[in-house]
Amino acid sequence: MQQTYVVGGNRLKGEVRISGSKNGTLAIMAGALLAKGTTVLENVPCIGDVNTMVEMLQQVGVRTRVNGENRIEIDASEIGSNEAPYELVKKMRASFCITGPILARLGYAKVPMPGGCDIGARPIDFHVKGLQALGAKVSIEHGYVETAAGKLKGAHVYLDFPSAGATQHIMTAACLAEGTTRIENAALEPEVVDLANFLTAMGAKVFGAGTSTIEVEGVKELYGVTYRMIPDRMEAGTFAIAVGITGGDVTLVGAISEHCTAVFQKLEEAGIHITAGPDFARVRSDRRPIATDVKTMPHPGFPTDMQQPFTAMLVIADGTSVVSENVYERRFKYVAELQRMGADIVQEGRTAIIKGVPKLTGAQVTATDLRAGAALIIAGLVAEGRTEISGVEHIDRGYEDIEGKLGALGAAIVRSEAAPESTARLA
Ligand code: EPZ
Repeated sequence: MQQTYVVGGNRLKGEVRISGSKNGTLAIMAGALLAKGTTVLENVPCIGDVNTMVEMLQQVGVRTRVNGENRIEIDASEIGSNEAPYELVKKMRASFCITGPILARLGYAKVPMPGGCDIGARPIDFHVKGLQALGAKVSIEHGYVETAAGKLKGAHVYLDFPSAGATQHIMTAACLAEGTTRIENAALEPEVVDLANFLTAMGAKVFGAGTSTIEVEGVKELYGVTYRMIPDRMEAGTFAIAVGITGGDVTLVGAISEHCTAVFQKLEEAGIHITAGPDFARVRSDRRPIATDVKTMPHPGFPTDMQQPFTAMLVIADGTSVVSENVYERRFKYVAELQRMGADIVQEGRTAIIKGVPKLTGAQVTATDLRAGAALIIAGLVAEGRTEISGVEHIDRGYEDIEGKLGALGAAIVRSEAAPESTARLA
């Protein structure tokens, strides 16, 4: 079984290229189902979740192939099946969002409920409410969501919470509806804006993305396009936090700083210096981080996906920090693993109180989800001795070669079947 091994103590220095956005790519791959033609996606991250989505599109009879480095071709001229397999939707919640496009194209879709995961129940009620508003008949039985509709009709949808996925899903389905759809209390995430840009490039009429009110004027047909993914703001944030904990000087090549404002502001509060450019960010630190409080919120608030890596950095900060997780109900499972490394964290419900400790010690720990894995790697970068991280399949879902990228910056980190005989091999 592969594990990630890290020996702490090295500062990070150099340049790292930020890969394409995982969450942006997944939404756009679902959106590509709307086009009766071939879409080519460039700068696609080479990660587990994208591979799962490729498999999912192939399973519904759409000719999809990875064509060289970070490039995917999706020919949705035909959609061979209106039913998605359970094991893939269970594996990756985002694949549920193929429901709307298939329904819009074929008038029927049967997709398993995605179910919860380690960070929360993750219901789909906003998605269902949106599809019903567009005229779909929805029945949920035996763990499947069956949707049927003649032509979808434009509607007025109000989201109880600015859900990124529900905003993307309803916006996508509305592109081929008859009439205009208005989504109120829409999510403002950059991946929502980028999906709207992609849909518009395909011939859709989408207005207001990036504000809390999005309007979609339905059109008859959409066309395949070539489109480049935006950089992954969560990967950029993860590497910036890594420099915050180890100290050093790293340039995040390709990062869009305005997508990372909340995380970069918080890092500045913690004493880390960030020079932001239009397509790069230089992160420097030469001191122990300063304790600071974090409240996760929908965009443009502090992103919940960065709560775990940021908390890992606060574990060795100078002072006491309070972290409140306001998006998911159980996103602190990784705290127990950090405590094994010497962290002083008291977690109650959605709040964690972190008393900074002068040092951590390496230990055997387990990643329970994607961002928890990132948090454990970050802690391992400064822990005394070797940290052995299992559950690396979670990390591979959303990070492209994170060990290779960190190693190139000077971290003593390696992925292997067995523990390297000497830490020298890690250096
Ligand atoms: C997206 O998930 C991201 N995933 C998540 O990233 C991210 O944490 C999340 O947005 C929040 O920013 C992808 O884009 C593939 P939501 P999504 O709908 O769309 C509740 C990662 O690590 N909710 O914005 O599923 C939900 O339970 C992943 O890359 C409902 O109640 O998130 C949560 O509490 C993890 N009913 C809140 O809304 C619904 O119908 C925000 O969820 C939908 C959501």
